[in-house]
Amino acid sequence: MTEAKLEALLNEGRSFAPSAQFAQQANAQPSIYAQAAADPVAWWKSQADQLTWTTTPTKSLEWDLPFAKWFSDGTLNASYNCVDRHVAAGKGDKVAFHWIADAEGESRTITYAQLQKLVSQAANALSELGVVSGDRVAVYMPMIPEAVVTMLAIVRLGAIHSVVFAGFSAEALSSRIIDSDCQFVVTADGAFRRGAPSPLKPAVDEALASCPNVKAVLVVRRTGGEVDWKDGRDHWWHEVVDRQSEEHVCESFPAEHTMFIMYTSGTTAKPKGIFHTTGGYLTHVSTTYRLIFDVKPDLDVCWTAADIGWITGHSYIVYGPLINGATQVMYEGLPDSGGRDRWWKIVEENKVSILYTAPTTIRTLMKWGGEHPAGHDLSTLRLLGTVGEPINPEAWMWYREHIGGDRCPIVDTWWQTETGGILISPLPGITATKPGAAMTPFPGISADIVDNDGNSVGNGEGGYLVLTQPWPGMTRGIYGDPERFKETYWSRFPGKYFAGDGAKRDKDGAYWLLGRIDDVMNISGHRLSTTEVEHALVSHPSVAEAAVVGASDDTTGQAIVAFVTLRLSAEDATGDQTAIVEELRTHVAKVIGPIAKPRQIILTPELPKTRSGKIMRRLLRDVAENRSLGDVTTLTDPTVVNMIAGLMETKGDSDD
Ligand code: WT7
Repeated sequence: MTEAKLEALLNEGRSFAPSAQFAQQANAQPSIYAQAAADPVAWWKSQADQLTWTTTPTKSLEWDLPFAKWFSDGTLNASYNCVDRHVAAGKGDKVAFHWIADAEGESRTITYAQLQKLVSQAANALSELGVVSGDRVAVYMPMIPEAVVTMLAIVRLGAIHSVVFAGFSAEALSSRIIDSDCQFVVTADGAFRRGAPSPLKPAVDEALASCPNVKAVLVVRRTGGEVDWKDGRDHWWHEVVDRQSEEHVCESFPAEHTMFIMYTSGTTAKPKGIFHTTGGYLTHVSTTYRLIFDVKPDLDVCWTAADIGWITGHSYIVYGPLINGATQVMYEGLPDSGGRDRWWKIVEENKVSILYTAPTTIRTLMKWGGEHPAGHDLSTLRLLGTVGEPINPEAWMWYREHIGGDRCPIVDTWWQTETGGILISPLPGITATKPGAAMTPFPGISADIVDNDGNSVGNGEGGYLVLTQPWPGMTRGIYGDPERFKETYWSRFPGKYFAGDGAKRDKDGAYWLLGRIDDVMNISGHRLSTTEVEHALVSHPSVAEAAVVGASDDTTGQAIVAFVTLRLSAEDATGDQTAIVEELRTHVAKVIGPIAKPRQIILTPELPKTRSGKIMRRLLRDVAENRSLGDVTTLTDPTVVNMIAGLMETKGDSDD
């Protein structure tokens, strides 16, 4: 479909009616909106009642703004709810995971009964290493079954996992380990990417040089490469876990027991340790998975194509699907490991029926061309989901036509690390969908769009997205920093949760998410703050000053563009600008991780500043996106901007 045609469709207010096939048999029936609206807290309690509790809660919400407790007098075990209860219900032979390796032909199938044994052994091993309830355990692992087993084993013991994306640097890992004082780390020797081993253990060794409190490191052998070893601290998984008993009787913990920490970027250089507690989080993710993805555990094969290093992996690979007893595909590799049609081979071979991914991946697959999906039988698919950033209508339409065969509903799900689970999304079989819109707050969720003064905007208007009532999966705060929690989320509009996103309500009242309105960038669905990247740049000895902006990018949504002034000595020494630019890009990748590598670095003798000394980021964003520059009269030196714009034009983009 051409852009122009698409525009025309959109202008007509194109929407896709709910699928008739879904309407009959969907897990969510239209009456739930009214039921939930009549008494949201009672509705959430009825959802919580579907978990297996050791002590059934009598309490629902206790709200001491901005601190919420849900179901606080109940006790349960998260791992039991994900695994043991299905085995106890006679579903032990049901497949939990079809794990598919990066290399074609390598796979593992794990049933719920096998998962129970693996998790029990891992829990016994962690106990032996000294892990007890309340301890923080860092997890730095590739997409292998042991990663899921580890998370389940940790929460089984009432310990707290802090999963750090394996693409993050040693420095990023150590700062997260230190911030929440993790005393244990679970990792692997390496990972496979497009057939090549890529080491992980060296980053852990480097990180731990500054983490003296770490007592034990458990290492899965995945690639078989040489690793350095610290006797007494390091333990091989196959030596410690495999010899453990396959039985582990689990304890129960209070609903408000902390379950995990997930670091995410805010507007400062220091990532925030967002923490979630057990009962509310599990209620939220299991309910949303059941109703939004319409999972039928006996029929569906679900594939959330995300990494466990992000919240999507936590909520919709591990906890939401497993509580529902779903069968899933878990994939280790990249979308083009083994060829550009690898995903579609996986869908065909495993009869995947529910696929959940990010717009950036959809755009990449779209660029590779429709012939790749067309060469495979994708008729098993019945529902498609997207998450992580606003999806452009063109990508939405491609997903619908080329992947969904024009028949699968698409759920565009808006949420955040902080929200625990999905808050805004269509419900299949109920909601008519519009290409690019997240549509409607989930039952039991009170969202609003407000203007600068906090007043609700009307249909057809835009503003800031807020949540006006607490929900079960809501973060309970920033680990160790309650003040920052209040300040970041609850002070902009008193009494309301401020998400940091711009949004619009269209003439029909549907929600459209418009992207971050703060200094948070969204690179391929990953959050990074501009300040974080600036700090990384100025930590290089040659850099005097740096300003970073997120510029729109056809594939990654946003891309990092950095404006850098060098120290005089560095400028004198290096005549070769290309070399220093490359060095700086590599430096950022080393400090934060490859996802933070700037697409482009512009060396400039000066940065545009207001008279009060603030860097004019808005102007730099205009420059980076080739927009005409507005009013520059507030600058100390307006000519700086034109000079930078000139520099932009003479420099080509770097292309990796
Ligand atoms: C930010 C949260 C939620 C898991 C992945 C990202 C953006 C997320 C959507 C969507 C438009 C979206 C927002 C949000 N975002 N989903 N469907 N449409 N924007 O989690 O790293 O915590 O990032 O991602 O800007 O604030 P995260």
